[in-house]
Amino acid sequence: MDLKSFVTIVPDYPKEGISFKDITTIMDNGEAYKYATDKIVEFAREVGTDIIVGPEARGFIIGCPVAYALEVGFAPVRKPGKLPRETISVEYDLEYGKDSLTIHKDAIKPGQRVLIVDDLLATGGTVGATVELVEKLGGVVAGCAFLIELSYLNGREKLKGYEVQALMTYE
Ligand code: PRP
Repeated sequence: MDLKSFVTIVPDYPKEGISFKDITTIMDNGEAYKYATDKIVEFAREVGTDIIVGPEARGFIIGCPVAYALEVGFAPVRKPGKLPRETISVEYDLEYGKDSLTIHKDAIKPGQRVLIVDDLLATGGTVGATVELVEKLGGVVAGCAFLIELSYLNGREKLKGYEVQALMTYE
C-alpha cells in the first residue's frame, strides 16, 4: 500500500513555511490505519516487545492499536500535570525554550523491553526525552517506531544505537 497517498500535506500550518503532515487521513481510512498498525506490529515482534510507550497525543493513536494487537500493555508519556500518580520527568529543548515530559514511576518494570511509538520523528526532542524516561525506570528500549520521519531535521541522530523504523520518510 502507498501509505504516503493517505497523508494530507497542509501548507503553512501551524506557521507560514511549515508543511504539516496530517495523519488523520490515514486514521479515518480503516485499511490504511490497519496497514500502518500491522507494519509497526511486525517491527515490534522483530525487536521483541513487552510494552508500548507513546507520547501524547498522537503517540496514543498509533501506539494503542499496536499494543492491542500484540496483547501487551501501553504506558502513556504526558506533559506535566496530566498523570495522577507519582511520576518522573525529563526536560528537553524546544526551538525556543524547554518543555518536559512525564511518565508514571511504576509504568515500566526494570528489564522490560519497550517499543516507543509516535506518529512523527522531527527534531527527535520528544523521542529523546521518552528514551530517557524509559531508561530511568530501568526499561530496555527495544526500538522506536514512527509513521513519518522528517529526515532533514536529523532526529535520527538522537537515536544512535537504537533500532528505528519509519514507515514514510520526507526529505
Ligand atoms: C508532535 C509529534 C511528535 C513530536 C515530534 O507532537 O506528534 O510527538 O511533535 O517532534 P520532535 O521530534 O521535534 O520532538 P506535538 O508536540 O505537536 O504534540 P501533540 O501530539 O500532543 O500535538
